[in-house]
Amino acid sequence: MRIVLLGAPGSGKGTQAALLEKHLGLPHISTGVLLRHAVAEQTPIGQQAKAIIDRGELVPDDVMLDLIEERLAQADTQQGFLLDGYPRNLAQAESLDALLERLGRPVDEAIQIDVDPEQVIARIEQRAAQEGRSDDTEEVLRHRMRIYQEQTAPVVDYYARKGLLTRVLGEGSVEEVLQLILSVLSMDERGAAP
Ligand code: AP5
Repeated sequence: MRIVLLGAPGSGKGTQAALLEKHLGLPHISTGVLLRHAVAEQTPIGQQAKAIIDRGELVPDDVMLDLIEERLAQADTQQGFLLDGYPRNLAQAESLDALLERLGRPVDEAIQIDVDPEQVIARIEQRAAQEGRSDDTEEVLRHRMRIYQEQTAPVVDYYARKGLLTRVLGEGSVEEVLQLILSVLSMDERGAAP
């Protein structure tokens, strides 16, 4: 199964993808994690991306496409994958479709995790205190949320128009949200069965 997880910063995409990876046996591909790793390793992409991430803006689409294409070429993605943080604008959604069409492995499901912005801010404040991620300051978070509204929210409609989108309320406990997502996925699998 090829699944795209969508949602605002702090909506729980990464948390849920890590749990779904264990439940479904599919690799969790987080572009945020890939980029932070590149920054830590000071690779050319990391050096280019660091200031952009710290401002809460989007890394250029061509850089992201190279990164995702390289990751999807790896053998562990053959049976499916969970994409977290990609695509993040309409151009990325279209590039991803073109890439997956070429590979004969289209997206099966897009799941949007909805969380009230005030709850998102509270979660990120807590994470900032615990982990100190460089883009988790109040000012940068507000900018990330603006970018999400302007550029990523249209991606939700893009998948809705394709009939692939399910929205899940992400405001319960981590376990409750996980169960909601698993029930959506199992319903769709049953629906797809002959
Ligand atoms: P990225 O790492 O993708 O950040 P994000 O989308 O802002 O997402 P977060 O990691 O903040 O939140 P999340 O939804 O994963 O929530 P999480 O599970 O962590 O991207 C970072 C940057 O990289 C971008 O700003 C951009 O610069 C760049 N980038 C990445 N992808 C890109 C792309 N495709 N194109 C261009 N640039 C790109 O949860 C948040 C917190 O809440 C955690 O502390 C968690 O423990 C807690 N939590 C989770 N679920 C619950 C729950 N149900 N109840 C209570 N707490 C919860």
